[in-house]
Amino acid sequence: MRDATGTGRAGAAGGALPPPGIALRVMERADIDAAERLREAAGWNQTPADWARLRAWAPRGCFVAEVGGRVVGTVTTTRHGPRLAWIGMLLVDRALRRHGVGGALLGHALRHLDRADAIRTVALDATPLGRPLYERAGFAAVWPMRRWAAVAPPVARPPGVRPARAADLAALAALDRPVFGADRRRVLRALLAAHPAGGFVLDGPEPRGYVLSRPGAGGWYVGPLVATSAAAAQRLLRAALHPLPGEPVILDAPDPNPAAAALLDALGFAPQRPLFRMRRGAATLPDPTPRHFAIAGPEIGSGAPRSSRCRGTPPDGGRGWARVDATRCLEASSRAMASRPRVAGTSAPRPVSFENCIRRLFSL
Ligand SMILES: CC(C)(COP(=O)(O)OP(=O)(O)OC[C@H]1O[C@@H](n2cnc3c(N)ncnc32)[C@H](O)[C@@H]1OP(=O)(O)O)[C@@H](O)C(=O)NCCC(=O)NCCS
Repeated sequence: MRDATGTGRAGAAGGALPPPGIALRVMERADIDAAERLREAAGWNQTPADWARLRAWAPRGCFVAEVGGRVVGTVTTTRHGPRLAWIGMLLVDRALRRHGVGGALLGHALRHLDRADAIRTVALDATPLGRPLYERAGFAAVWPMRRWAAVAPPVARPPGVRPARAADLAALAALDRPVFGADRRRVLRALLAAHPAGGFVLDGPEPRGYVLSRPGAGGWYVGPLVATSAAAAQRLLRAALHPLPGEPVILDAPDPNPAAAALLDALGFAPQRPLFRMRRGAATLPDPTPRHFAIAGPEIGSGAPRSSRCRGTPPDGGRGWARVDATRCLEASSRAMASRPRVAGTSAPRPVSFENCIRRLFSL
């Protein structure tokens, strides 16, 4: 992998060697429970099914940090074609942070990717907490995005939108490729298979857009959403929301596409924290286009969530949270998550107290 930033190869990752007593190794299936505990503690929205997919795509490319036989950190890599790779799920046990574990995991993942000579670009979607670590490893922020959340409003099923089918994948990948920057048919196939009822296509002579959605630990995750116009995106988003009235829904939208923010705002979504798409190596990723309305997920091609079960109005005046009342949202979320049929691979919802909800809001 060439490093256009001039900071060297993977060894430039801060703390690339694990601190004493910390071992790094490939993540096995048996590690998913421990990885889930770290994910849950961070308030992220992924599920055991997400970990399983990441492992299936890169059986030798997902790693854990271990101390005394206990998993204390994770990182995943995902290849999107021969030249592009993604880093995701960088998580460290809160008690062991700021000891070099995160830097060591990142360095390990980059060294793994460096061994694949064809890879020219490594990208990721960074939280504000992760960004300095990545910058030290030679990543540069290329554009911001934002997490949006809502309790899904009741919406009518829009006309012209139909369920996505496996037979659509070639056409959807063709629509997706110039927006994402690589052919990710493998990812789209897996995400559609994860929740076939959550995929929709807007037909024209060629598809005018598509949306996928899937269950998360705390809310439904909508994305990717790619559409040739804002009107097409609106229909697709409505199709995704139609089966989910009253349920918590989140998605990550590129800030540089103002049509995405306008659409989400109109449907009652509230912006949450910022995320940053970051890149290391050659500039092979496209800038966000007006067709890009939501990413596939922070761990595979977009930003990372905090709690998606709760949103509220912080006393400092808002930072954009103002329209969602935390209590109402928490109640609606808990009700919806408890009553919905369990989808294979999702964990049972755990009650979240209002206090915890607020604490999570402020630890963003
Ligand atoms: C982001 C995250 C993975 C970092 O993990 P970490 O183990 O704390 O990372 P490191 O210890 O390598 O580096 C973190 C900081 O500790 C410092 N540090 C590293 N070793 C240290 C040591 N021995 N003594 C003191 N400080 C040290 C680093 O210089 C760095 O400083 P900075 O934040 O001021 O730049 C962790 O905070 C986390 O899990 N956060 C929640 C999930 C998240 O946001 N992940 C990022 C996704 S994009």
